Amino acid sequence: MDRETLARYLSQRKELGEGDIVFSRLSGDEALALARARPAAPAGETSAPLSGDYEEVRRTALACERCRLAGGRTQVVFSDGNPRGRLVVIGEAPGMHEDRTGLPFVGRAGKLLDLLLASVGLSRKDSVYICNVLKCRPPGNRNPMPDEIEACTPYLERQIELVAPEVILAVGGFAAQFITGRQVALGKLRGEIYDYRGVPALVTYHPAALLRNRGWTQAVWDDLQLLRNTMDRTGRSGGG
Ligand code: URA
Repeated sequence: MDRETLARYLSQRKELGEGDIVFSRLSGDEALALARARPAAPAGETSAPLSGDYEEVRRTALACERCRLAGGRTQVVFSDGNPRGRLVVIGEAPGMHEDRTGLPFVGRAGKLLDLLLASVGLSRKDSVYICNVLKCRPPGNRNPMPDEIEACTPYLERQIELVAPEVILAVGGFAAQFITGRQVALGKLRGEIYDYRGVPALVTYHPAALLRNRGWTQAVWDDLQLLRNTMDRTGRSGGG
């Protein structure tokens, strides 16, 4: 079945009042949005570096249609926090609450992230800029797909360039892969300081993973101490 036929089929089911169908973890509406969405642009077409100042890049992202996720989102989730922050935190992708509010990390995982940052004297109000590998919510919170990451990466690269943080903290496997270029388990990557284009970068478990597995608490605590020490050593003056 091609994409148009699938979209027509799903639309007719919806009009007839037929309930959700199980497409992995997708609801009927999510499957329909996916089928209606335009296919991702061919590899290479979307990955050129972006130029432009912060506002231009933000405006471009808010209108972005580079990949299929544009078809299913409520809002593009560009960032939160201080664009002049000392620390950039990179997560994976917006979830349901983020898609609704347009802000990253506002659900349960976000509340935990704020607490973790506060434990080392950091906050999105003064010292932290927060963004994600993907700016739009994947349907059913599935993992980001490689072509979606490729299409979205120029935004993240430019955000980091423009914020010019002293330190980067990547939370979760997808952000860690972006920073390190390595596709291995997070437990094997954490505890080290990487160099992301001249900026010291650390990786740790995603707060959502920590909520599911409290056994990682000590590791995250250690990572936060390493983060704090790294920031104290890089020592730009002011906020956090
Ligand atoms: N998880 C993420 O990785 N990012 C968010 O913005 C929310 C949850």
